[in-house]
Amino acid sequence: MQLNNKRRFSIHNYPLEDKVIFLRTDYNLEIAEKSKQKEEINLKIKESLPTINFLLDKNCKIIIATHLGRPNGKIVPELSVQPLIKELKQQINREDVKTIQKIDLNEPVIEKIHNAKKTKIFFLENLRFDSGEEKNSPIFAKKLSSLADIYVNDAFGASHRKHASIDAITQFLPSMPGFLIEKEINQLNKALKPKHPLAWILGGAKLDKIELINQALQKADYVLVGGALAFPFLKAKGIPIGMSKVDQNSINLAKEILNHKNSAKIILPVDFIASEEFSVKAKGFVVPFNHILPKQICLDLGPQTINLFKQYLRKTHTIVWNGPLGYFEWTQFATATREIARYISNLTATTICGGGETSKALQKYHLADKMTHVSTGGGASIAFLSGKNLPGLDAFYSNYKKFGKIKKRLKHFY
Ligand code: 3PG
Repeated sequence: MQLNNKRRFSIHNYPLEDKVIFLRTDYNLEIAEKSKQKEEINLKIKESLPTINFLLDKNCKIIIATHLGRPNGKIVPELSVQPLIKELKQQINREDVKTIQKIDLNEPVIEKIHNAKKTKIFFLENLRFDSGEEKNSPIFAKKLSSLADIYVNDAFGASHRKHASIDAITQFLPSMPGFLIEKEINQLNKALKPKHPLAWILGGAKLDKIELINQALQKADYVLVGGALAFPFLKAKGIPIGMSKVDQNSINLAKEILNHKNSAKIILPVDFIASEEFSVKAKGFVVPFNHILPKQICLDLGPQTINLFKQYLRKTHTIVWNGPLGYFEWTQFATATREIARYISNLTATTICGGGETSKALQKYHLADKMTHVSTGGGASIAFLSGKNLPGLDAFYSNYKKFGKIKKRLKHFY
């Protein structure tokens, strides 16, 4: 999908001076992991700064809003946005970020925003504390919209969700993407309109990415499969996988994929690092793919597979990576993920990486900056790379249809 400038509003040329902006960001992170994953919070906030700074330069007041976790429409104090506000303050080097404590958006709140000085930043409490958010409620969206003049969506990571602050709100305000959404689309499109040879590396835990795999089979020259994603394929070929977990549905899907006309593009592991226990202290040893014993569980790719993957990757102009290649949370099973990350970071190929776990791994090894692009989106990047339409992006076009007449009035700005 391209963001076509002609049929939507753009912050590049929309008159934003002195306006109140409702800025939807995706600062979401599993709260339990927050302390461990400080870098990821930083990345999501860091990536939103170009838009925030641009809006501040235009003397805008900004209301930042995000969801955090899945509180299911209830107030869950542990999922308050307070830690995010602390991070934001540090990153923008400003103390005066005002919290809008409740999603109870009444007149006094609107008045407070109205009376605030230019460039004031407000931060709304977790959007998902209100059940209207996930229901895409127009009533909730209207309440949100009443706070601002213009809606800017920079929450690429949430753009696959048809939620009130992503979709319904665009019925009420002129709406446009922020710089992060533009950047994500430009970069992820390099994966869909690539310079060949193109390799996709697919890993991760589940075979729930059927559209992604189909897309890979269509677009790529090679599809390198690692992580637990490899097991349904081995099982579908009748190869025992020991204690490694796989469900019947995934095996059926893998059978279908192996019958695809392009299935020869799929490169499966030839060896693994297996263990006889699943624990942080587990010791790993190399096993060939066709000698996995019933008591063994495979937790990483073996050295021959890493070399094999490198041989394919060496030949490419473009590499797309989604999903870690082993259980990288435990160092003894992180070799394939780390080695392949290091290897591709030193190639001249364009490297486009997506998915929450892949991003975590790249940040852990301090390699994110060495890739052409690391998406801030998990599910959103998978949906985009799968070729699906994202509700958050579609909304810009319907918004333009609805509010386009404003453009005529503001003609001199375009
Ligand atoms: C993410 O972190 O991937 C996005 O914020 C989406 O979160 P969700 O899966 O809870 O909608």
